[in-house]
This record gives sequence, structure tokens and C-alpha cells, in this order.
Amino acid sequence: MAVSKVRTYYKAVRRVSATVSNTDKELSEILDIIVRNVARPMTAAASLLLLDSDRKKLIHVSSWGLPKSYILKGVLDPELSLKEVITGEPVIVSDATRDVRVQYPEFTEKAGIRSMLAVPIIIDEQPAGSIRVYTKQPVEFTNQDISFVITMANLTAIAINDSMLHEMTLQVQEGTYKPKTDTSPLRYARTVSFSHPSEQEFARILDFYNIEWVYEPHSFPLSWEKDRITEMFTPDFYLPGLDLYIELTTMRQSLVTVKNRKLRRLQELYPEVKIALLYKKDYDRLLAKFGYGPLAESRGRGVAKVLYSSAEIQNRVNELAKQLSDDYSGRHPVMIGVLRGVFCFMADLIRQITIPVSVDFMTISRYGVKADSITNIIKDIDIDVLGKPVILVEDIVDTGLTLNFVIRHLESKGVSDLSICALFDKHTRRIVDVPLQYVGFEIPDEFIIGYGLDYEEEYRNLPFVGILSHKEKRSKKNR
Ligand code: IMP
Ligand code: MG
Repeated sequence: MAVSKVRTYYKAVRRVSATVSNTDKELSEILDIIVRNVARPMTAAASLLLLDSDRKKLIHVSSWGLPKSYILKGVLDPELSLKEVITGEPVIVSDATRDVRVQYPEFTEKAGIRSMLAVPIIIDEQPAGSIRVYTKQPVEFTNQDISFVITMANLTAIAINDSMLHEMTLQVQEGTYKPKTDTSPLRYARTVSFSHPSEQEFARILDFYNIEWVYEPHSFPLSWEKDRITEMFTPDFYLPGLDLYIELTTMRQSLVTVKNRKLRRLQELYPEVKIALLYKKDYDRLLAKFGYGPLAESRGRGVAKVLYSSAEIQNRVNELAKQLSDDYSGRHPVMIGVLRGVFCFMADLIRQITIPVSVDFMTISRYGVKADSITNIIKDIDIDVLGKPVILVEDIVDTGLTLNFVIRHLESKGVSDLSICALFDKHTRRIVDVPLQYVGFEIPDEFIIGYGLDYEEEYRNLPFVGILSHKEKRSKKNR
């Protein structure tokens, strides 16, 4: 190997070391610098990929010299894409055109990539991602090349670790520190500049529910002319843990039609892709639920119409209790309710159940209340549920975000099996797909009150369930 190349490597490592110890820089900026300083001395393209917290998806975080279409080709499956990297070994692909370990061969070919070198990024003795180098010529990577990239990967690990520690220290100083269940490097490293404020607010809501997200990670080609892609669609968010794309449509109705057409096309071409579309009214209602946005202000105070009478509710609750008593006969389940909305339902339900059960409650914080930046358990259950069958009892499932959080929490406690019993299901509004084994009523997309359910802490004491009235004109205009 030429001496000059060793010198270039050495200089690049020095530059990056200096950058890593510079605490003024944002992590995303540091990572861009690292990737650039891998690519240039090697006269190659390079990228940095990080794993999501479940270690099931590899996501591009930064890249240099790669065509955009290559980066947006999709989220990688670490089991399929050079998987030795995830077990901690460097991988060399001498001929990418023939190697079965290359996950999207057509994109690799289009980008003219011939050889690849991938080394792992290890943080806390766990695989966290990978740095990859791509060349257009066939290259035999030398030991020096490999150690150079490993050094850069180690510096990347240090940069990410420092940044996570730095953020934690700040939180401890401000008194806002909460141990998070998701501390994946991805969350710290992503570069995000939102193109719309509603996207930022939505990202905060996802953060609050501890749902990992990536902003615009993937463009789907929709139409071609010969080999050229003439139309693409880039959903706003990807939620790796749920393998779900989200598109927010908070703009003018005229643009919605175009978007709907694109979405239909997307589903035709990629039927396996899960995507949820949130319209302006869904989004406004999501905010209104937490007391924000135009709908929250314009809600009148009063019941527009009774949806279910007290007697109808009692009948349905009795049926559910009978079904649960049959299904769980001989098993002694623990029934857990999420306060406060569930208290009426729970009280009526358990009194009709004919088998032995235990009952417990938990309370979780609500978005936008106080300074919580993440869902927080205010009161956890007291009963030990390890190895026990659990029935989670919910008043109403709307977006499914709350339930998703609670399910993950209970699963982490080692319940033997978990089923969900919800009195009301607003199925049309679901963002996170949660399985509901027992449902009282499927209800339309309306805000309901009564029988424990509140609007801003009012109406819980109504014996029936009603639809909250809107102050007519203004709210209609906003929908
Ligand atoms: P999710 O996380 O969007 O599924 O919301 C679930 C929680 O939001 C419920 O447990 C309720 O506390 C509240 N919620 C959702 N929809 C309504 C409603 O129509 N009326 C009253 N509360 C609701
Ligand atoms: Mg609730």
C-alpha cells in the first residue's frame, strides 16, 4: 500500500477525532463528517446505517457519494443485508453484481456499485449499525482499508455514546430525566428538518408514546418511462417497530386528491407495504383529544345526541362478562384497567364475571399535560403478573397509541398471555394496529362522553354515552 494512502487515512482519523470531541456540534453533523471522511480518502462512496431498537431494521442515517435513489431504496433487513456485520464481523463483497448478500441488487446495479466493505458499529457491546463503503471498480480491500473503516466505526460509536450521555446529563440537570425504554442510537442520530409544523407535532406525539420513527426514509417509485423513474412517493414517517408508513395530509383538499391517487398506486405496486393516511380532520382530532388545535377550541359544551342508553350498555357489558367467564374458566386472570376512563366499565364488568379474577389499575400520563416528553407511568400495577393470564380492560381504543404503549409495558413484565377487552372501538381512526379480542361496540368517528369518558374532565358521570356537540359553524369550517 502506498505511503500516501496511509497518510490520508491518518489525517482523516485525526480530523474526525477532533470533530468527535467537539461538543458544540450536533450529532447528525458529526456523523455526516465521519461518513465524508471515510469516503474521500478511499475514493469511494460511504454510508452510515443504524439499527432500530428491535434490531430488525437497518436505516440510512448519513451518506456520501451515493445516488439518492440508492439511499431511498428501502429499509434494510439486517438478517438479509450483509448479516455478519450485525454479529460483529467486517464483510467484504468483491463483486456486488453477483453476491446474494446484497439485498436490493437492481438498485446496486443501477448505482454502478461493484465492491462493498461493511464494518460493524458496536455500542455497549451490542451491534448498533454499520459503516459501508462502495466502489464503482472491483476492489480488493486491504487490511489497512479495513482497519481504517473500523477505526472510523469506533469513533462513530464514541460520538453517539457521548451525545446520548450529553442529553441525559442535560435532562438530569433540568430535572426532566426519565429512564427510557427506547434508547436506540437511531433516535439520537437522525437528521430531521420537517417541511411542515404538523409533522413536527406528530413526531412529538410519537415520541410521547415511545414509538420510534424515521422521517422520510424511503421513496417508492410509482411510474417509469423505460428505465427512468418519472414519479415517486415519499411517505412522511416510517415507524420501524410497527413496520408502518404514515402520511400526513394536513394540506388543501385539492392536493389530497392527487395524493390519494398516488396512494392507491402505491398499494397496487407494493401490496406488502403498510401505510396509514392521516387527513387534516384526523390530525385535528388527535390534537383536540389533548386539548389543542382548532377543534379543541371550538368544541361546545354539551351532548349532541345519545349514542347508547344506560340499558344498552348494561346488556352489552353482561354479554362481554359472560364471554370472558366462559373463555377464562379455570384460569384466574388478572384484569387490568387503564384509569381514569375505564372505572365505570370495569366496575360493571367484574361484577358480572362468574369466575375468580384479580383486579388492578394503572395510570399513565397524557400528552401535553405537564412537561412530560414521553409517556410516563404515573401509577403502575401492584399485582405481580409474571406468568399469569391478563385481560387488559380499556374504555375506548382510538388511535391505539395508548394501548400499544400499555401492551409493551405489560409484556415486559412477562405476562403469560394477554387479551384486550375494549368497550368502544373507533376502528376507522387506528394508527397502530392492536388486536382487540373483545369489543363492546364499534363506534363511528365521533368524540364520545359519559359512562366514565370525559371531555376535559367533564361528563364522566353521565349514565349513558353521548356524542359531544360541536359549536356549529366554526368547527364545521375547520373540518
Ligand atoms: P388512543 O391512544 O388514541 O387509542 O386513545 C385512547 C384514550 O384516549 C382513551 O383511553 C381515552 O382516554 C381517550 N379517548 C379517545 N377517544 C375518546 C373519546 O371519544 N372520548 C373520550 N375519550 C377518548
Ligand atoms: Mg383510557
